[in-house]
Amino acid sequence: MKQAFRTPYNPPKPPQPLPIKESWALLGGISPERFMKEYWQKKPLLVRGAIPAFQLAKQAGQTLHSPISMAELTQLAGQKNVESRLVSSKPWSLTHGPFKSKDIPELSEPDWTMLVQGVNGHHPMAQTVMSWFRFIPEARLDDLMISIAGPQGGVGPHMDSYDVFLLQMEGRRHWKISAQDDLRLKENLPVKILKNFKPTEDWVLEPGDMMYLPPNIAHDGIALDAGCQTWSIGFRVPNYKELVNEILWRTTEALENEADMCALYSDPQQPATLDPALIPAQLVEAVQKKLNSLQWSKSDVSCTLASLLSEPKPQTVFTPPKQLLDLSSFKKAMVKMGLELSPLSKSLYDKDFFYLNGESMSDSEAEDWHFWCQLGRELRLSAQNCSEIQAFIDQADNPWFEAYQAGWIVLSKPTRTLG
Ligand code: SIN
Ligand code: CO
Repeated sequence: MKQAFRTPYNPPKPPQPLPIKESWALLGGISPERFMKEYWQKKPLLVRGAIPAFQLAKQAGQTLHSPISMAELTQLAGQKNVESRLVSSKPWSLTHGPFKSKDIPELSEPDWTMLVQGVNGHHPMAQTVMSWFRFIPEARLDDLMISIAGPQGGVGPHMDSYDVFLLQMEGRRHWKISAQDDLRLKENLPVKILKNFKPTEDWVLEPGDMMYLPPNIAHDGIALDAGCQTWSIGFRVPNYKELVNEILWRTTEALENEADMCALYSDPQQPATLDPALIPAQLVEAVQKKLNSLQWSKSDVSCTLASLLSEPKPQTVFTPPKQLLDLSSFKKAMVKMGLELSPLSKSLYDKDFFYLNGESMSDSEAEDWHFWCQLGRELRLSAQNCSEIQAFIDQADNPWFEAYQAGWIVLSKPTRTLG
């Protein structure tokens, strides 16, 4: 394919706020409201022409390509801070990146696929596509993964324990799916392959088509064309054990500050015993009473979840701006340009607090509180908003300036427009 004639699809930014009551081509002509009621976590949905631009181009005798080229994916897969995997299917093998370009097979070679995770944090087009799905809470959102494959490439029949939207962005992929209960895996393989995959549906997805799968639906997608690209928007969430563990761990930390909890157990009433190995009932009762006195308010739970679920993934590296401005230049620049959340940042808030990348940045008592929430909601703040914030940035340890220095928020690029 000659690079000069490659016309990439340019994904549009969605309107703000998202029209969640209106019908969307992306969801097959239903509204996000209806999608969440009828399909989310319930049943698969196949959408032909989810991105109509691909079909329109085809009707006009043109071919639209993925917004991200093989060269860009190769470059991403070569980075230490980007998670990538190569899967070969004959025989099954799995290697982890970073990869040199010579490690990645030619697109025309059969039976391999490369998976690049978290592309939304590194490529503006992937970030835009992920923003189409912001009708689903970000606390549930994991990342946008791109797979690129040679003919017959795939990761084999498997199931995922999370919801996923699979958008076909280049070439065709042959999907087979099944709601089977038998989720046993083949033994001694480097990848998770179902032992007895019995597909009940069989679809070939063309560029621009999309499939939504709820958790635990077995699926197998085989690339039909060289350079087949599937973009997966995944919604993993930790299990209850992880979430509860975190709350218990933080509660334990907080006990350090409670005199009552740090007091020593005492038993002045203990009578002489003929059964010294018997655990004293009074000791059991005293500890049980302390345990029962532990309480978690809704706000405690919400706060812990916001901190935990907004934490960056371990491999995430934030880069401070190349030309780091001092405080006074930053204040001038933000009023001129506006601010954006870094695509690597994750924010979560409730009515009392705002968390960014696991750290508490503001609470509802603070004067700049609603600007943080607006940044979380819209991912950006206009120059006008920034001129109001400017008044609050009066010392070097202000969270706005600190977040800028850390690369968590960035100055908007002057040429970027919404719409
Ligand atoms: C792929 O894109 O090849 C695999 C995605 C998946 O099955 O979850
Ligand atoms: Co899968």
